[in-house]
Amino acid sequence: MSQTWWRGAAIYQVYLRSFADGNGDGVGDLAGLRSRLPYLKDLGVDAIWLNPWYPSPMADGGYDVADYRDIEPVFGSLAEAETFIAEAHELDIKVIVDVVPNHSSTASAWFQEALADPKARQRFWFRDEPNDWQSIFGGPAWTQVADGQWYLHLFAPEQPDFNWDNPEVHQEFEDVLRFWFDRGVDGVRIDSAALLFKSDSRYEDLDEVHDVYRRWRQVAEEYAERVLIGELWLPDQERFALYLRQDELHTAFNFDFLSCPWDPAELRRVIDLTLTTHAPVGAPPTWVLSNHDVTRPVTRYGRADTSFAHGGALHGTPSDSELGYRRARAAALLAMALPGGLYVYQGEELGLPEVEDLPDELRQDPMYARSGGSNPGRDGCRVPLPWSGEEPPFGFGGTRPWLPQPESWRKLTAEAQLADLDSMLNLYRTGLRLRRDRLGDGTLTWLPYGQNVLAFTRDSGLTCVTNLGSGPVRLPAGEILLASGTLDDGALPPDTTVWLASAG
Ligand code: GLC
Repeated sequence: MSQTWWRGAAIYQVYLRSFADGNGDGVGDLAGLRSRLPYLKDLGVDAIWLNPWYPSPMADGGYDVADYRDIEPVFGSLAEAETFIAEAHELDIKVIVDVVPNHSSTASAWFQEALADPKARQRFWFRDEPNDWQSIFGGPAWTQVADGQWYLHLFAPEQPDFNWDNPEVHQEFEDVLRFWFDRGVDGVRIDSAALLFKSDSRYEDLDEVHDVYRRWRQVAEEYAERVLIGELWLPDQERFALYLRQDELHTAFNFDFLSCPWDPAELRRVIDLTLTTHAPVGAPPTWVLSNHDVTRPVTRYGRADTSFAHGGALHGTPSDSELGYRRARAAALLAMALPGGLYVYQGEELGLPEVEDLPDELRQDPMYARSGGSNPGRDGCRVPLPWSGEEPPFGFGGTRPWLPQPESWRKLTAEAQLADLDSMLNLYRTGLRLRRDRLGDGTLTWLPYGQNVLAFTRDSGLTCVTNLGSGPVRLPAGEILLASGTLDDGALPPDTTVWLASAG
């Protein structure tokens, strides 16, 4: 792949705890992931992004990092991580790791030092008096320590925020980047990328953060073909684009697309906005339907309200699973056809639904406890994958996965879906294969169609048509390459996407 492999890459997100369990302890690990690399190769992805794999007390699924230069023993060892990187590279799959610069873990050496010695607190935000900020997970954003001072945590109390006004913190993260780039890692996903700096009144999107990413870009450019990817939930597109200037981050997740309802006018608006936001800075857009923080698309698209917003308000509202499944298939082909990069969250390719009936006592996401149970949290999209067989743990490994899998997933195992030509898995496999040659980076040209249809042609001549209306629509001339559902006497049924090779 070229210097700019990331511009059009299909990146598969591995939530390691739930991907595959190699040692049978109920938690996914590197051994499990390594054993499933051929599956990812056959799926046709260009890169893997792993959620944090560092030593962690797991107060927030590993986003409470105790040591940025090692591997959580439950997942494996540093040596095994290096072996994994080499094995992925042999298969021509790039590896992206998660870096968490906004906060640490209370178990980290720096925080332990800060607790023991009030003079060693300048790497964090310690104050004699807290302000009124609330944690993003609910409850106050300050916790008091034994000697009376308070420390800031925008997330869980186990995740103390770093003080980025301290040059030592800058140095530390530049070293951490080099540590992983030296081990062959091809890029980093930057967690909570807009939150690093704090003023008296604000903690989001302060201008100082751009100096950090300019430095990180210089570090990345000491190496070849490394990519910096921002997790930025920002409402203002102009502010968002500032992070993607030529000397800052390479790309960022498109959460507007993920949050967008299944509605033709809204989708068209978000796609156009995405393209016009990215064009001036020359950064490729990305297309994201799900990740480890949001409700699975099959469930989302089957509800009356098909949008996504944090807060869990729609949890448990009725969802028509057949409708949601059909739309998720149509959305997958739409996302794959749009110009730029693509993210696929593990299990999306299996059409897994959100698990909404987990027993409360098994819920682990701190959002659940900190909201006093009003927000069920994100465990429902993190249930271990079903690989094979007729009953749990469906080939995940061991006997009891850390979260229970529904019995009904016997129909959704990778094994069952490989044997079914019309399965979601085979749709993703064929789509990703076609995408590699004909889609990815570039531009699109909209085709004039009715207001309920999204239709565009890509540089390669591939035309993508999605019908979001309630009746069938006629298709333009061309050879049908792939469809998310069965055509209706040559016409495109509702909630269906088709790819065509332009005629002539
Ligand atoms: C990001 C992660 C999320 C985590 C939070 C705090 O939003 O995606 O899973 O809880 O940051 O690190």
